[in-house]
Amino acid sequence: MKTIDWANLSFGYMPTDYNVRYNYRNGSWGELEISSSEYINMHMAATCLHYGQEAFEGLKAFRGKDEKIRVFRLDENAARLQSTCRGILMPELSTEKFRDAILKVIKLNERFVPPYESGASLYIRPLLIGTGAQVGVHPASEYMFIVFVTPVGPYFKGGFSTNPYVIIRQYDRSAPLGTGVYKVGGNYAASLRANKMAHDMGYSCEFYLDAKEKKYIDECGAANFFGIKNNTYVTPLSTSILPSITNKSLMTLAEEMGLTVERRQIPEEELDTFEEAGACGTAAVISPIQRIDDPEKNRSYIISKDGKPGKICTQLYNKLRAIQYGDEPDKYGWVTIVE
Ligand SMILES: Cc1ncc(COP(=O)(O)O)c(C=O)c1O
Repeated sequence: MKTIDWANLSFGYMPTDYNVRYNYRNGSWGELEISSSEYINMHMAATCLHYGQEAFEGLKAFRGKDEKIRVFRLDENAARLQSTCRGILMPELSTEKFRDAILKVIKLNERFVPPYESGASLYIRPLLIGTGAQVGVHPASEYMFIVFVTPVGPYFKGGFSTNPYVIIRQYDRSAPLGTGVYKVGGNYAASLRANKMAHDMGYSCEFYLDAKEKKYIDECGAANFFGIKNNTYVTPLSTSILPSITNKSLMTLAEEMGLTVERRQIPEEELDTFEEAGACGTAAVISPIQRIDDPEKNRSYIISKDGKPGKICTQLYNKLRAIQYGDEPDKYGWVTIVE
């Protein structure tokens, strides 16, 4: 067996030993199957291929100092997948079946869960797809749920640090009454051009305003936005952003730290007033924002004057990571230990 260089893992795909699957046929989900194949055999007219009947999730498992493996908020990921299924007319998978699949696939690939000291983790990717054949635009009658895992490196290799973002006005990721609140592949296909544009301009990530008025903050690439000012945690209320589980967790921790939490529309100009801001999501927990540029308006909103992460962002980041790795007690019941 080849040994893995944990410290130099990137956020990429590495084959592991097994994946797990359920099939939905004749109106119900079947039993869990274990596979060692990285491929799916399906009909060329499957609805996931033509009409985007496809949902996915992303969560992580962490090895603690005590060697125990902890999965973060898997029930919330199950609930979000169920919401996505309702959004694009796919059969929902119960939380119990979701949990069984996640715990099984981790157990089967235990040797790929990075050691505590490495700062790396195991990324878990659940996928639910329409596999039944259709030529007209209709929901399929058959589906597959599959979960694979892959070890991923620590997001901040050189330490927790800030990044600049760029507002892209030329492309929208999702519409106000569209599928932005669901985790469907189509939203990510729609984001590719904006993401490339941001990269071509030298930024690591694109920043979206609301599609209708181009006035309010929506999201930052595949992460939610939050700003901090006057001891308040402010995050957008929008019908076109993904409800981030990291953001939900940070709101709880911010309240615990004595901050007021506000979920409301954030006009672009308000960016000038934040003392700190961050992009939050499973990948990085928090990626602190250095500044946000709006090239079309020829404006730049400087958030971190000294270029360093702010005090509250750092506290929130350390607190959430400590819960994930089991260094702090799990008082909200966010963690499931893999037995
Ligand atoms: C568009 C989008 N927004 C936000 C997030 C962050 O969500 P979470 O904290 O649940 O990972 C993600 C990643 O899942 C995403 O793809």
